[in-house]
Amino acid sequence: MALSSIKRILVGITGGIAAYKAAELVRLLVRQGIDVQVVMTQAACHFITPVTLQALSGKPVFTDLWDDRIDNGMAHIEFSRDADAILIAPASADFLAKITHGMADDLLSNICLARSCPLMVAPAMNVQMWENPATRRNVAQLKRDGVIVLGPDSGDQACGDTGMGRMLEPETLLDAIDASQQPKLLAGKKVLITAGPTFEAIDAVRGITNLSSGKMGYAIARAAIEMGAEVTLVSGQTSLKSPHGANLVKVTTTQQMLSAVMENLQDRDIFIGVAAVADYYVLNPSEQKIKKDAHILTLELAPNPDILANVVSLPDPPFCVGFAAESENLYEFAEHKRRRKNLPLLAANLIQDAFGGDESELILLDDKGAHPLPRAPKLTLARQLLKHVAGMLKEQKSATAQPITEQS
Ligand code: PMT
Repeated sequence: MALSSIKRILVGITGGIAAYKAAELVRLLVRQGIDVQVVMTQAACHFITPVTLQALSGKPVFTDLWDDRIDNGMAHIEFSRDADAILIAPASADFLAKITHGMADDLLSNICLARSCPLMVAPAMNVQMWENPATRRNVAQLKRDGVIVLGPDSGDQACGDTGMGRMLEPETLLDAIDASQQPKLLAGKKVLITAGPTFEAIDAVRGITNLSSGKMGYAIARAAIEMGAEVTLVSGQTSLKSPHGANLVKVTTTQQMLSAVMENLQDRDIFIGVAAVADYYVLNPSEQKIKKDAHILTLELAPNPDILANVVSLPDPPFCVGFAAESENLYEFAEHKRRRKNLPLLAANLIQDAFGGDESELILLDDKGAHPLPRAPKLTLARQLLKHVAGMLKEQKSATAQPITEQS
């Protein structure tokens, strides 16, 4: 269940120091227009008060199985029936153990047992508790039972230890819910992606670059991971955080990007060139900062290698996807580029639209024609692009499959 399809969610809070993060989580869910019903265990009330959650959710918070505010006295049935999903955040070791075994001795565990909707848990506990064989067994069993386990993360813990067991931060948790629901169309595939701008030095502090933020390439990396792929992301300089699970290789120049791509290309099924690569580099960059004077400064530029062309021309290339940013005649120029670069698929976008923003629109061009993807956040476009790639790979596979001939 993607977050966009959740209209009503029950957020269960159990006892742990991470309960304070539930306040922000509820705030973010409400801000997305989701109806949030909070239920807390008695232990959770030691860490954060129901009043706080009531103010943030705009609804009464329930903690007790015998609460007589529910007309028919069956709060556990009412609440589980009403919700599109249940999210337990934080989920303590004790609560995980309880629901693994189908125990129902308080309101929240009753709701979990009586549910007919998806159950998601965001574990939060001390690293030793997380690594204890009992917890490992419980988490494995919950996964087998179809419970979606989100996190935990590693890092500093309230108890002073460091390691796995931190509850995911609220924003990350919402992303993880979305990610967990993506179809695993690229399971087992190895994907190499270039992203961001390259930079060619003029002197010690100046250089030639462009306005690529890396957002499109990073979104594709994230979407590919969500779809089950193993991803290496070769990135020029950006301020973006590496997508969780990506193998990030940072580069500066086009030559470095080419080397990183070639070093990481082995066994790759898919190569996607999203980077805005500098077509030229400065022939003799100055090691010192160039001093200003009254003369005209002439830079000598030499052409850079074309990374995508290098990959496409390999004897056994991966499935290659190119990008093209054009300022006019998008379809004609991009389709010409696709044919010239001998690409099965090219994603075309308008320069004025694509660079730097969180949203864009694309036209996918392949041998069958043009497939427009209307304006949307880059992550949405990335998912649509990869769905298209997965479809093309499937078609390719069935086209190359040997027909079974009858033996006489
Ligand atoms: O990073 P964002 O701010 O999110 O912006 C995204 C984007 C606009 C950079 C992206 O969507 C995009 O369009 N990238 C390609 C930009 C472009 O115009 O590329 P190009 O026409 O110079 O090159 C065509 C293709 O060849 C691209 O796949 C490019 O990565 C590749 N190329 C180009 C030159 C070169 N020397 N080596 C290459 O591999």
